Amino acid sequence: MKADVFDPRALREAFGAFPTAVTVITASDPAGRPVGFTANSFTSVSLDPPLLLVCVAKTARDYPAMTAAEHFAINILSEAQKDVSIKFARPAEDRFAAVDWARAPNGCPIFAQVAAWFECSIHNVIEAGDHVMMVGRVTAFESSGLNGLGYARGGYFTPGANSSAAGGEIGAVAVLERHAALFPLGDQNLALPSYSAGSGDPAKTLASQLERSGLSVHDWFSLLDL
Ligand SMILES: Cc1cc2nc3c(=O)[nH]c(=O)nc-3n(C[C@H](O)[C@H](O)[C@H](O)COP(=O)(O)O)c2cc1C
Repeated sequence: MKADVFDPRALREAFGAFPTAVTVITASDPAGRPVGFTANSFTSVSLDPPLLLVCVAKTARDYPAMTAAEHFAINILSEAQKDVSIKFARPAEDRFAAVDWARAPNGCPIFAQVAAWFECSIHNVIEAGDHVMMVGRVTAFESSGLNGLGYARGGYFTPGANSSAAGGEIGAVAVLERHAALFPLGDQNLALPSYSAGSGDPAKTLASQLERSGLSVHDWFSLLDL
């Protein structure tokens, strides 16, 4: 597609192919009231000095307060906080009534149970079309170890669900060898025998399934956790 015929919706969808985490950017308005909204344009920028950025739409209700504030904070939502993301992306009188929050050292609202938070002083505000890029210098942060919430193509996902360490589905694949040759299963689409489950021991389940199919497995020499 050429630049002069861009369909904004197609462009938005193409940008949305890039999976991100989800944050809520917060600050205080001149009266000291908390302001904030959902933003996935967060990027870490520099370790030394510690810089990050987030893009803020000029049409956002909180745009004047955000860009006038001396400090802002980024709350990286954890995978259980999809409802927080939805709440802070919709117009509402008092979004903050729905969350448990406290103030960071420079007064920015920080939510409970986030994957991580950063409070920043404003380092630079860079013009960028219908948005500005707010570059912040980190003045305080905390990381909880919780998994972050994922977002791609307009939908939420939980990256931790694919990891056995996070208590998600676990699986085993067997590579079978018979008479010094690999022994895949299936008629046309040959595949390695596999088994996955939310709990239990997939390797043992896979072994008993193979036994039930009449395959007597003598030596398990390799097991992979997926
Ligand atoms: C997952 C997600 C990510 C978003 N990312 C951004 C963003 O990076 N920057 C932005 O300005 N708006 C972003 N938005 C839109 C704002 O959250 C939304 O426009 C919000 O309602 C603006 O608040 P307002 O009512 O104060 O205008 C995002 C929305 C969602 C659901």
